[in-house]
Amino acid sequence: MHTAEPNIPSKPFGITAEGQKVLIYTLTNCKGATATISNYGGIVTTLKMPDRNGKFSDIVLGFKTLPEYETKSPYFGCLVGRYGNRIACGKFSLDGKTYQLAINNKPNSLHGGIKGFDKVVWNAIPLMTKQGPSLKLTYISKDGEEGYPGTLVVTATYTMTNRNELKLVYRAKTDKKTIVNLTHHSYFNLAGQGKGDILDHLVTLKADRFTPVDKNLIPTGKIASVKGTPFDFRKPTTIGARINEKDEQLKFCKGYDHNWVAAKFLGKLAIVAKVEDPKSGRVMEVLTTAPGFQFYTGNFLDGTLTGKGSSIYNFRAGFCIEPQHYPDSPNHKNFPSVVLKPGQTFKNTIIYRFSAK
Ligand code: GLA
Repeated sequence: MHTAEPNIPSKPFGITAEGQKVLIYTLTNCKGATATISNYGGIVTTLKMPDRNGKFSDIVLGFKTLPEYETKSPYFGCLVGRYGNRIACGKFSLDGKTYQLAINNKPNSLHGGIKGFDKVVWNAIPLMTKQGPSLKLTYISKDGEEGYPGTLVVTATYTMTNRNELKLVYRAKTDKKTIVNLTHHSYFNLAGQGKGDILDHLVTLKADRFTPVDKNLIPTGKIASVKGTPFDFRKPTTIGARINEKDEQLKFCKGYDHNWVAAKFLGKLAIVAKVEDPKSGRVMEVLTTAPGFQFYTGNFLDGTLTGKGSSIYNFRAGFCIEPQHYPDSPNHKNFPSVVLKPGQTFKNTIIYRFSAK
């Protein structure tokens, strides 16, 4: 191990197919909680948090090796950009000009395209902060990359705070009018990765509304009330309680894979979700400044991926909460704008806060 900054050790994680060296950094806070982060894709490869007895487990799904992340990852733990989630047929217009993005999820563009921010090597600078050890990732995305206009300068700062929070701060600037939506894609299992499915996790979502989708998982444009639907998580409810109900929305996605509208969106940090695992006692609260969040229940996992420690990732082995703008926003005038102009700064802050009870 060679030390990058006192208390923030780094070690080689391999060399990409294109020949770039990749490192893994370990952030350890004063309570012994750790996050390991790769500068390939800004991926959180492990996250170790204590249960009610103080026993640490790795609570995010992931792989052991870099080639697995390069070739078969369903976005495990990564930084998503330029645009989190789907853009219908990869098309959008700005000032009368139509842009065609890379299509990687037929017929749509998903999570930034074929080589999104999850598949690029970021420049990484470790630093100790008052809040805890931190890693600042920077990437310059070229004008036209994956079809997006403008050179985009992106930073993502990850901090393992001394309050057992994984804090992620995203910033982006452009030299041409463009669209941006950056988020994080960890698959959590609060019982520990590889420890079965997440159906008995108890979820509370602070959202009265969600955005229903069509069969291609593109929002219809409607902002619907959760009342009386399986999408109402305003009171703590297990993920499994209604996931198999006969419901067109659940059928389209094989479970939950939707954007909820953050109840108190003011661009200020607010708690949008709480998830509890009754077995281990681990609790995760999600805070964000974003107007919505995707709640995804691992519906595309099917037992064909083997993760770290030989864990087989079966259907619903993990869940994601990805605070962000709504999917396909550029094509829906009634959704909050994702347009970024020169001189402006795109901002998103996400905090995953852990405790045990
Ligand atoms: C997001 C999407 C899902 C799926 C996963 C990655 O959560 O909403 O439909 O694409 O990413 O597998």
